[in-house]
Amino acid sequence: MGSVGAKDVPVLMTEDGRRIDGRRADELRPLRIQAGALRQADGSAFVEWGANKVMAAVYGPREVHPRHLQENNKAIVQCKYNMAAFSVDERKRPGLDRRSQEISKVIAEAFESVIFVEEYPRTSIDIYIEVLQANAGTRCAGVVAASVALADAGIPMVDLLPAVAVGKVAGHVVLDLKKEEDNFGEADLPMALVPQSGRLVLLQMEGHMTRTELSKALDLGVGGCRKIYEEMKRALRERYAPTGTASAMEVAA
Ligand code: CDP
Repeated sequence: MGSVGAKDVPVLMTEDGRRIDGRRADELRPLRIQAGALRQADGSAFVEWGANKVMAAVYGPREVHPRHLQENNKAIVQCKYNMAAFSVDERKRPGLDRRSQEISKVIAEAFESVIFVEEYPRTSIDIYIEVLQANAGTRCAGVVAASVALADAGIPMVDLLPAVAVGKVAGHVVLDLKKEEDNFGEADLPMALVPQSGRLVLLQMEGHMTRTELSKALDLGVGGCRKIYEEMKRALRERYAPTGTASAMEVAA
């Protein structure tokens, strides 16, 4: 196999502004959310977003393990993000690596800032995110799934937490990067938004953007999060107040 050269980089943006999968810069991949997908967990959700498939399960508030992590004045939020060995093209080595530790940490911190943790001292709220199929944006899909799972578990929160990655691809600021765009693009910027207040509780960036591009990317991401928010609410309504309408809706810009 030869080395990857410029000729191997796919066309990420056509002259008439279409992306590798035909989307416009401000379009989301199709998103389907099922609230309450698992029987055992206190709350759960399954998210299919483009080619991503992500399951989230939530337990708690429950006894803290290990005990020494217990806090007397609030609940702790623990998150375990895991990518299945079969979730990517090249088999991923199973188990904890630095990437999953980092993602677990930023997701736990994001949720700690929206859950009313003071109401449940000396307990733990445990979030498990299992990526079954990955195609970029899995941490955002994980946040969306976990957020619906937390609501399904009845855990009081300021708001649901929609999340999406924006980025720069072939010189264009675009919403919701897929794998090729993430691999060959210039920047990737995942974010999670508290819709009511407009507060960002997760914001990371890999790559480079100008200040103007960053500002445009944030606006695009906030708009994307607001659409995702509607689908999250729909999934919860579907579970708790079914109307007999279609079980899932495809969200597109
Ligand atoms: O998934 P997310 O975009 O949140 O995180 P990332 O670290 O930017 O990874 C981007 C994508 O690279 C993942 O969604 C997977 O499709 C792929 N990936 C992979 O193929 N093997 C890994 N060990 C890690 C990521």
